[in-house]
Amino acid sequence: MGFELPDELKFISNSRRPQKCASERLDGRVCVMTGATSGVGYQGALRLAAAGAHIVFIARDPEKAENVRRKIEDISGAKAEYYIADLARLEEVREAAGRILEHYPRIDILIHSAGVHFTRRTLTEAGHETVFCVNHLAPFFLTRLLLDLMIHSAPSRIIQVNSEGHRFNGLDIRDLNWEKRIYRGLGSYGAAKTAQLLTMWEFDDMLKGSGVTINAMHPGAVRSNIGNNNGPLYRFYLHYILRPFLKDPVISGNALHFLSASEELRSLSGRFFNLTHEEIPAPHARDRQLGKRIFRISDALTAGREAPADIYKRISKYES
Ligand SMILES: NC(=O)c1ccc[n+]([C@@H]2O[C@H](COP(=O)([O-])OP(=O)(O)OC[C@H]3O[C@@H](n4cnc5c(N)ncnc54)[C@H](OP(=O)(O)O)[C@@H]3O)[C@@H](O)[C@H]2O)c1
Repeated sequence: MGFELPDELKFISNSRRPQKCASERLDGRVCVMTGATSGVGYQGALRLAAAGAHIVFIARDPEKAENVRRKIEDISGAKAEYYIADLARLEEVREAAGRILEHYPRIDILIHSAGVHFTRRTLTEAGHETVFCVNHLAPFFLTRLLLDLMIHSAPSRIIQVNSEGHRFNGLDIRDLNWEKRIYRGLGSYGAAKTAQLLTMWEFDDMLKGSGVTINAMHPGAVRSNIGNNNGPLYRFYLHYILRPFLKDPVISGNALHFLSASEELRSLSGRFFNLTHEEIPAPHARDRQLGKRIFRISDALTAGREAPADIYKRISKYES
């Protein structure tokens, strides 16, 4: 009998397995995505456009967005469009979603690829810890805002670019904003990715029978710009120590195409993939009771009816 790794370590062997490929085309399908200006999302946009998808992306930097739009059109010959929004500003997410809803009668694929990793705690203008806002609250809110149209467009697919990094840390619901603990970059990254996975199971339950699937994926350990915003010491570590071990992000784009298009995944929902291989996430990301609570809290934090500081204060007092 061969030695089998425990579930928690299967990501090591999964990352070495040959990845699956899809040959299905996506002609005429509308794919809304974030993070298309760099790394994983950029490769995903190029790959899906090459398969015929019409790419509509949300980006924060107009110049980068315009360059990417041109590149997508040059490579695929298909038209691509973008809307400007900073995912650290939830009102801009609402606005971008509103404009997309006005312009598109259907959305077939929604990919959340934007993400950040900060080694120091920063707050958004509204007072959310930035990593939690960009990696979890913004994609959660965007899914909420576009969900009715996705149901109307079914069969349709939602893909969260998550991370094996969810294994770094669980979610401390009493201190979502890192006010009581010493901030750790990997801890906040792991917590935000855990929150995203926890809400995925809830969305999956809500969407049963609707024809809309929702899955999450780790895009491989690939070369990208993530972490480049941090200090010189971290950048040194990233470029000279970590980078030689990182792979070409083309693999992430191919995996996004597989998850978006493959017939094999037509009705598969509520799963976590390491690129194209299904995997079991960490136990703390499978706690359904915690998932229900973070779903309700994320709704409250994105509704814009109450100051986030008051919500965080109340949660820290009453949630245990
Ligand atoms: N690279 C890896 O090995 C790896 C491993 C596991 C998981 N991931 C996940 O993969 C996803 C993509 O990361 P990546 O590696 O491709 O990093 P990346 O190259 O830094 O790309 C991140 C993308 O997110 C966008 N973004 C960041 N903050 C934003 C904001 N406030 N508003 C709007 N867009 C924003 C960036 O826009 P700009 O171009 O304007 O900066 C960029 O398009 C993330 O969710 C990350 O957690 C990556």
